[in-house]
Amino acid sequence: MSTTETTARYVLLAAACCFVLGLHLMNSPATARRGNTLSAAAMAAAVAATAALLVDADAITATGWIVLLTAAALGSAAGLYAARTVQMTAMPQLVSLFNAVGGGAAALLAVDHLIQVHDPDALASRFTIPGALDIVIGAVTFSGSLVAAGKLQGVVPGRPIVFRGARAVNVALAVAFVAGGAWLVADPGSVPALLVLLAAGLAFGVTMVLPIGGADMPVVISLLNAFTGTAVAMAGFVLDEPALIIAGALVGASGGILTKLMADAMNRSIPAIVVGGFGTGDEAQAAGAEAAAQVRSVTADDVAIQLAYAGKVIVVPGYGLAAAQAQHELGELAELLAERGVDVSYAIHPVAGRMPGHMNVLLAEANVPYPLLREMEDINSEFPQADVALVIGANDVTNPAARRPGNAISGMPILDVDRARSIVVVKRSMGHGYAGIDNELYADPKTGMLFADAKHALAELTAAVRTFVT
Ligand code: TAP
Repeated sequence: MSTTETTARYVLLAAACCFVLGLHLMNSPATARRGNTLSAAAMAAAVAATAALLVDADAITATGWIVLLTAAALGSAAGLYAARTVQMTAMPQLVSLFNAVGGGAAALLAVDHLIQVHDPDALASRFTIPGALDIVIGAVTFSGSLVAAGKLQGVVPGRPIVFRGARAVNVALAVAFVAGGAWLVADPGSVPALLVLLAAGLAFGVTMVLPIGGADMPVVISLLNAFTGTAVAMAGFVLDEPALIIAGALVGASGGILTKLMADAMNRSIPAIVVGGFGTGDEAQAAGAEAAAQVRSVTADDVAIQLAYAGKVIVVPGYGLAAAQAQHELGELAELLAERGVDVSYAIHPVAGRMPGHMNVLLAEANVPYPLLREMEDINSEFPQADVALVIGANDVTNPAARRPGNAISGMPILDVDRARSIVVVKRSMGHGYAGIDNELYADPKTGMLFADAKHALAELTAAVRTFVT
């Protein structure tokens, strides 16, 4: 082994250790930034070490280098531009697109390698079995993530899309996976076998994500993220590249754990989500139509009085707070109330907003002290003691319809806002949340609806409460 190769291998090993450490640092909001920087630096070092290995082995022609560097420059520029310009509220779509790119790239790596080598002696089943898995998982991730991004962006309808014979199609695709995999093991590098696996994987990605809708999308995105990692780890086995195996396994395992946690928080089982077919929402629609007729509208001045003289206020932030970018106004109002001696805390639902930890990130931007953010299981028992539950741009995560069967959010644990002594909901209209169903909370006699943009309403509330202070 040359000195360059030895050094590069040590750098790759060190990078893999830094990935583990980086992930560990992300356990706490206080160290998460450092974890991110460390992991990014380790990835840059791993890319440099891989380039050094390629130069050392003289593995790439001059034209190959031009193609590689151009593709890397274009990819990096596009990634940097997308990450810097994306709105926080569009982050899940971006994550989904990144998943698609990662899964697709991993699948193509295996296809390329198996075609290039195409030597039954060199391609033992220890390469072809992971190769077949890589192609299938990568292709499922690619098409599934594109459909998921389309649903989140509103390009593909967000409701569950169910078609007749879907189950038979899925059985046929499962047969194609097994047959294509066996074919590839028997005849490594067989192009028709690769095409069968690719086509079946791409088709399954679409049939898997189309029937999923409503509140289950976050779990699917997390699952697809875990798939990306698994496909990358499989690519590592195909190329015999330990760094790729470690990086992929880390993403696969952490994505898998996150998926399980989110599914548990939503009271769902992962197979049930993948198979799809949750309620239609009809029942909640009917109840909601009645609700629309009965809501009680309130003014900012009414709410300001309620808040200023409350002993305990629980704030329930949701997607609308992020859409309005009203976190600073909310922080200011909460601080003002705290100065008046009001006990203010924030109830954080695990899928509030549009990505895991969305509300935590948003409120951290407004310097809300982290201990005031309380998780659902922890704060639900305190709603009966709250004088006011102040719901800002949250909808599905507060909808009591979740406690009944037969609708798109049935079984999802919710924040027990309806158990507070009084409820104020700030939103612009009677519009639906992500799951597309009406919210019975709005017809509750204890609920006052403050119809306004969250940013505008919170600024008005702060100004009105200030008049009580002076
Ligand atoms: P949603 O149920 O999506 O409701 C958000 C509400 O905010 C809407 O009803 C909307 O009503 C209101 N709103 C929008 N813009 C506003 C503005 N500028 N000012 C004030 N209100 C505004 O939100 P949620 O309760 O946070 O629930 C999240 C949903 O998204 C769940 O169904 C969840 O499953 C899903 N989801 C979550 C994730 C993750 S990982 N968190 C990812 C994908 C999907 P108006 O239009 O009437 O104002």
